[in-house]
Amino acid sequence: MYPRIIIDRNKYRYNIRTLTNLCHRHGISMMAVTKVFCADKGLTDILKEERVDYIADSRVKNLEKISTTIPKVLLRLVSIHEVESVINNVDISLNSELSVIRALNEAGRKYNKRHGIILMMDIGDLREGIFYWENLKKIMDEVLKFDYIDLKGVGTNLTCFGGIIPTKDTLSKLLDITEKIESTYSIALDIVSGGNSSHLHLLHKDIHIDKINNLRIGEAAVLGRETAYGDRMENLYHDVFTLEADIIEYKLKPSLPEGDIGMDAFGKTPSFVDLGVIHRAILAIGKQDVDFRELIPLDKNIRLLGSSSDHVIIGIMNEADNYKVGDVIKFHLTYGSLLSLMTSPYVEKVYV
Ligand SMILES: Cc1ncc(COP(=O)(O)O)c(C=O)c1O
Repeated sequence: MYPRIIIDRNKYRYNIRTLTNLCHRHGISMMAVTKVFCADKGLTDILKEERVDYIADSRVKNLEKISTTIPKVLLRLVSIHEVESVINNVDISLNSELSVIRALNEAGRKYNKRHGIILMMDIGDLREGIFYWENLKKIMDEVLKFDYIDLKGVGTNLTCFGGIIPTKDTLSKLLDITEKIESTYSIALDIVSGGNSSHLHLLHKDIHIDKINNLRIGEAAVLGRETAYGDRMENLYHDVFTLEADIIEYKLKPSLPEGDIGMDAFGKTPSFVDLGVIHRAILAIGKQDVDFRELIPLDKNIRLLGSSSDHVIIGIMNEADNYKVGDVIKFHLTYGSLLSLMTSPYVEKVYV
């Protein structure tokens, strides 16, 4: 049935193996991030067979369904309302709020389970993390007293909200904080987690930043690209996933609607480019599954024209292309389209 995503397990395995080896060569442990594919078993089983050091996801529900002895890490800051589920399904979580860590400690006591935490530092991207030393000190003073919490280390996240690129200069802030914690509290931190796929441009140039010994990698493994500059990594597959959607109408039509223009199905006033009379196809996939602007047709003569809840409309710009109803159009994906398609129950997932 269509639409469906074809998932090449061998290519994913190759990407994971290549990235794990790259990290390990630099003395960096690898957290393989599973959220973009909703921790689907067909791919998490591969992680269990490879040498990844941790399996990480932003949703507790996803981690809950992975059965493994590899430590499981929750990437999104813990919600105070989910601490019991975190204690019972996750080994390590990322945190920045003292009230939440205190609640985790209480839940740990209730279930007699120890829980590891990584304190997140905001070094400029302005998403999660502790920004000021005074705030960090207040948290540290308490955290070390909690009897069910193990402080595993510190981490940071870049190139997410503020688009900040990991450089030696920017990351030196994380290293300074690490040293200050270690000297102030006379402890050694096991984990200094330097970021996500945007860090890979540094490793690729053989730039190793002393003390950074962990990365959390998602996008590079699924789309084969680093995310600081969006460059393809030439030694990785970028086509682990391919979307296939079928044509349910194929007709010659004008490219400008006829009549007075009001609102489209989503209350917006649409505008159009006049391409003359063209072959238009309707695909059986829509906004409910994916933002059509995030689809990349393999056939370069296809132009994406628009979408509604259940339809994507394309123009076939080459007369020689001879599509018909029932034919399947293939797309490469971006991170955004992969995320929503893997989350849509209407899109079949097919492993090859
Ligand atoms: C805290 C955190 N770390 C790491 C990642 C992985 O990022 P990327 O997919 O760019 O490697 C994410 C996002 O999934 C995240 O939220």
